Amino acid sequence: MGRAYKMKGQKRKNKTEKYDREQSVDLAGPSKKVKTDGSNSEKEENLEITAGDIPGIPIAPLDTGNNKQRVIFVLENASLEVGKVGKTHQLLSSDEHATFLAKNKRNPAADYRPDIAFQAIQTILDSRVNKSGRLKALYVKTQQGQLLEIKPHTRLPRTYKRFSGLMVQLLQDLRITATGNGEKLLRLIQNPVTQYLPTNSRKIGFSHSSEKLIDMHNYVGKINEDLDLVFVLGAMSHGKIDVDYVEDYISISEYPLSAAYAISMITNAVERKFKIV
Ligand SMILES: C[S@@+](CC[C@H](N)C(=O)[O-])C[C@H]1O[C@@H](n2cnc3c(N)ncnc32)[C@H](O)[C@@H]1O
Repeated sequence: MGRAYKMKGQKRKNKTEKYDREQSVDLAGPSKKVKTDGSNSEKEENLEITAGDIPGIPIAPLDTGNNKQRVIFVLENASLEVGKVGKTHQLLSSDEHATFLAKNKRNPAADYRPDIAFQAIQTILDSRVNKSGRLKALYVKTQQGQLLEIKPHTRLPRTYKRFSGLMVQLLQDLRITATGNGEKLLRLIQNPVTQYLPTNSRKIGFSHSSEKLIDMHNYVGKINEDLDLVFVLGAMSHGKIDVDYVEDYISISEYPLSAAYAISMITNAVERKFKIV
C-alpha cells in the first residue's frame, strides 16, 4: 500500500488524471536558482513554482539496509523531449507525433523513442537489486543533454501515458518532490554525471557492438566487492553510447538486445552475486 503525497507545483489549467491509487505529489516549493545543462551550454534558470494540485507519484517501500557493494545505473541518450503540439506540451514520440515531427523536419523513425527509457527505468526500479536496497542511484541523460536523477524508491506510473505526463512535468518544472519529507524524487541535476559517481567504483559501458563478448554472471562475479558497480547503457534505438568515463565496454550477448532486456540480464547477474532471491 502506498502513502498519499501531495505536490506544490505550477498551477495547471486542466485537472488531469491521478496516478497510482489516486496518490498525489507536489512540486518543490519556493522559487529557486537551479543550474541546468544543455548539450553544449550551461545556463542558470530562475524557477518560479507556485502551489497547486497536480498528479503525482508515490514512494515504494524498500529495504534500505546497510549493504556494502551498491549499484548505479546511467541511461545515456534517452529520447525525452518535450514539444508544444497544438496547445499542449507533450513528450515527443514517433508513434504519436509523426506528423508533427515531419512538419518540424525531425526524423520520426530514429530519434523519438521515449518508450525505451520508460521500459528501461521500470526494469531498473522493479529489480530485486532495487527492492533489496542495493540500487544507489539512477541517472538518465537525455539526447538534449539534460541530466535527470530518479531516486530508487520512487514508484513511477506504470502506464506509458502517465509516465509521459510526468516527464513533461519534470522537464518543465525541473523537479518533482514528495510532500511529507519534501524529498526530491525526480529532478534535473547539473552535468556531468561523473561528479555523482563514486571514485571507488567500476564503470562499465554496454554495447552490442563491443568486441568483448562476456558472460555477465562470470564478469560481475569477479569484480572486487569493495567497488560499487556503475552500469552505463543506451536508451536510444540506434547507435552506440559514446562516453569517456567507462573503464570497460562489454557486450553481454551475441544478439542486439533491447535496453530493458540487457538491464534485466545485468540485474539478474548482480542478484545472483549478491545472493538476492
Ligand atoms: C536498443 S539498444 C541500442 C542499440 C545499439 N545499436 C547498440 O547496440 O548499442 C539499447 C542499449 O542496450 C544495450 N545493449 C543492447 N544489446 C546489447 C548487447 N548485446 N550487449 C551489451 N549491451 C547491449 C546497449 O547499452 C544499448 O545502447
